[in-house]
Amino acid sequence: MGWLSKFLNSNIGLKVLMALSGMMMLGFVVVHMTGNLQVFLGAHALDRYGSFLQNIGELLWVARLGLVSALTIHVLSATILTLRSWGARPVAYRSKYWFAPSLLSRTMLYGGVAIGLFLVLHLLHLSPSIFGLDHGIAAITPGYEHCKTVGDGLSASLECGVYANVVHGFSVVWVSALYIVAMIFLGMHIGHGAWSMFRTLGLDNPRYDRLAQGAAVSIGALVAVGNSLIPISVLVGLVHL
Ligand code: HEM
Repeated sequence: MGWLSKFLNSNIGLKVLMALSGMMMLGFVVVHMTGNLQVFLGAHALDRYGSFLQNIGELLWVARLGLVSALTIHVLSATILTLRSWGARPVAYRSKYWFAPSLLSRTMLYGGVAIGLFLVLHLLHLSPSIFGLDHGIAAITPGYEHCKTVGDGLSASLECGVYANVVHGFSVVWVSALYIVAMIFLGMHIGHGAWSMFRTLGLDNPRYDRLAQGAAVSIGALVAVGNSLIPISVLVGLVHL
C-alpha cells in the first residue's frame, strides 16, 4: 500500500483526485440543472420530479453521501495543492495549467470559495427540510412548502411543491441576484476546472488541447446560462404561479 500513499501524497495524485471528484460533481450539476429546467414545462412536471427524488428513499442518501465525499476530497486536495504552491514560492511558478495566468485560472480559488458559500445558502433556501428547519433562515423563501405525505402505509408517498418554492424563492430580487452571480462563478470554475480535468486524466495531447479547452468553456457557459435562466424567468414573470 506504500505506492498508494506515495501517489496520494504527490501533486499528480492530488490532481487525479481533484479531477475525479470534480467530474462527479459536474455530473451532478448537469443532471440537477436538467431536472430543474423542467420548471419551463410547468408545475406538474417539476413537482413530479421533486416527488420522485424524495420517494427514492435510501438511494437519495447514497447520492448525498457520494456528493459530500466528492466535495470533501475536492476541497481537501485543492487546499493541500494551494498551500504547497504558496510554500514553493518565491521560486517562479512554471506550471502550465494549475495556476496558468488566465482570468479563469486565477479565479479558481475565489470561485471555489464562492461556490461553497452559495451551496450553504442554496440548501437553506430551497432544501431547508434537510436540516429540519421550518422557520428561521427558511424565511428567505416566504411561503416555502414542505413535502406532504399522501396516502397511508405502503402506498404512502411524498408530494413536493418544488415549483411553488422555486417561484416564491426567486421572486426575492436579492436572492435571484446572488444566484446569478454564483452561477457566473460556477461557470468560470467549470470552464477552467473541466479543462484541467481533461488534461490530468490524459487528454494532454497539444493536438486536442484547443478542443478540450473549447469543450470545457462551453460546458461552463451552458451551466451558467442554463441555471441563471430560472431566476431570470421568475423575475421577468415568464415563470409564475
Ligand atoms: C438556479 C439554479 C438551481 C435551482 C433552481 C435549484 C433548485 C433546487 C431545488 C428546488 C432543490 C430542492 C429539491 C428537493 O428538496 O427536492 C435543490 C437541492 C439541491 N441543490 Fe439545487 N438548484 C440550482 C442550482 C444548484 C447548483 C449550481 C448546485 C451545486 C453547485 C446545486 C446543488 C444542490 C444540492 C446539493 C441540493 C440538495 C439535494 C438533496 O440532497 O436533496 N443546486 N436545488
